[in-house]
Parts: sequence; C-alpha cells; structure tokens
Amino acid sequence: MTASTGLKLVERDASGVDRAFRADVLAGLAQPQKAIPARWFYDDAGSELFEDITRLPEYYATRAETEILRARSGEIADLVGPGRAVVEFGSGSSVKTPLLLSAIDPSAYVPLDIAGDFLRASSAALAEKFPGLPVWPVEADFMRRVELPAEAAQLPKLGFFPGSTIGNMIARTATDLLRSMRETLGEGAMLLIGMDLVKDESVLTAAYDDAAGVTAAFNLNLLTRINRELDGDIDVEAFRHEARWNDTFARIEMHLVARADVSFTVSGQPFAMRAGTSIHTENSHKFTRRSAQTLLAAGGWEPRGRWTDSAGQFMLVLAEACAPRSAP
Ligand code: AVJ
Repeated sequence: MTASTGLKLVERDASGVDRAFRADVLAGLAQPQKAIPARWFYDDAGSELFEDITRLPEYYATRAETEILRARSGEIADLVGPGRAVVEFGSGSSVKTPLLLSAIDPSAYVPLDIAGDFLRASSAALAEKFPGLPVWPVEADFMRRVELPAEAAQLPKLGFFPGSTIGNMIARTATDLLRSMRETLGEGAMLLIGMDLVKDESVLTAAYDDAAGVTAAFNLNLLTRINRELDGDIDVEAFRHEARWNDTFARIEMHLVARADVSFTVSGQPFAMRAGTSIHTENSHKFTRRSAQTLLAAGGWEPRGRWTDSAGQFMLVLAEACAPRSAP
C-alpha cells in the first residue's frame, strides 16, 4: 500500500470543532436569507448519503459522466499524455477515478478533500487497486490555494474535478476556484472538469427531490451535523427538504424550509425562523456549451476537448491553463 497518511490542513479549535464550519454556519444563519455553503454536507454520513444519491434512478449525473469517461478515455488519454500527477479536487469516486487513472498512465495520484476519514478510506482503496502508483492524499479545503506534497512539485499535473461540483459555486466563486486551481497545478497544467447541462425542469427537480427521499435525508443531515459538531439544538423534524429551479441563474436550489415558526441555538447563539422561510443549502448550476466556455475562460482555462453522454445530459471538458491575453 503506497498511500501515505496524508497532510492535514484543516484547522480545529481545542474542542475539535472545524473553525471554518462554525464561522460559515453562524454567519450564514445571521443573514436575512439564511444560507450555509454546500461543502458542509460532506461529513461521513453526508458523504455516504451522497454515494447513495449517485445510485438513484432520478440522479442521472454520475451515470452520464461515467458513460463519457468509459466511451472517451482513449481520446482523453491522447490529449493528456502519460506521466502526469492527477490532482483530484474532492476525494474521488470508486468508479470514475479508476477509469481515468487506468486510461492515462499517470505518475501519481493526489486527492484533496476536507472529509479526512472519507479521504483516507478512498485513498487506501485506490492505492490497493493501483499497486506502484504513488498516492498522496491531502486533507485540505481546496477552495483555498493548496500546497501540494513536495514529491508532486516537479511533475506535470492533470486536475480532475468531476461531478459538476463547480456548479455548486456562484460564478464569482467558481472563477476564483478555477484561477486558484491554475496556481495550485502550475505551468502547463490541464484540467478535466465535469459540468452538468441545462435540461428539462422536471428532470432536474426529480434529480434533486427523489422519490425515496435520499436527497431529503442528505439535506437534513446538515442540521444533524450542526447539532453534533456545533452544539446545536435544532429540531430536525421542524424542517422539510425543497428543491427549486431558479431560471434566472440556471440552477437548482436546495432549501431547508421551516414547517412552523422555530427557534434554536447554535454554539450558544440564538436564531429564530418563521414558518415557510428557509435555509438555502445548495446551488447546483447547470451549464450550456457557451456558459461553460465563458466560465472556464474567466478562470484562465481553454477547452481542448468536450464530450457529452449519449442522452446529452452531461458534459466533460478537458481544458489547458492559458496565458492571459489582451483583447481582441
Ligand atoms: C455532485 C456535488 C455537484 O449538485 O448534483 C446531489 C451534489 N446535491 N444532490 C450536485 C448533490 C444534491 C451535487 N454535486
């Protein structure tokens, strides 16, 4: 097993609380439209619920992206070339990551994730599948610029950012992230990024409000996590899951809607909500070929290849870090 125990870049206070989690929750609950960043869904329970989501009949995205990787790995490998260190933003899925790694002959695999236990488990599984491939996990918040392990410094990089996680960010934040990925990955880097496409509204709302209630459990788990990690006393039963299409921003929004007037405390701070008001917990932006191109360009990346699945639901883009150029 070549997986190292990994670097830890998450800051915790004396009682083990992730400082950034508490800061985001307290600030987000103090706003008129309460909002908590979607990245805090992924504690161990949330990461497992998300794995369950990827197997739901309504949630097409994972299957579509996997189909593209299977069908196009040869073309991707030709454009990427051998010997790159694959830097995955997020700790990797048991299906997509091996598909990519076995297609491109990489020199190392560097998964970055804030969910430390999940990261270590998936890194160990990966290292077992690819004996001889160095695996260097880094427990870090990839929204900030990440210092890669020294061993990876000299290797050419391929960033891998599947799942349309970029869609969880508003354009400004997505642009910041794409730019910081360029810095993290260095000169000559490439980026393979999944972007979910705009499609029929009923398909989208079903994908984010499945009949079995798994997405609802995933959304509500955030409240359970707040109660456990931030000493909260939120009545989870007082909230219901809602998925809405926001046509102006071309995105699915997930909310936790108060079923009745509720009040609660988190880390000793009191909050109150009226019935029908919500905590906004996720944006999932959907792209067109053009909007994807614009976003990537704003972040300093130039598409070299684009592929969609046979149903045209999802797009995988291979981009190359480009030098800033003046108009026109
Ligand atoms: C795969 C993390 C981008 O927006 O589709 C799935 C997560 N949220 N169902 C997405 C998610 C609700 C998700 N990401």
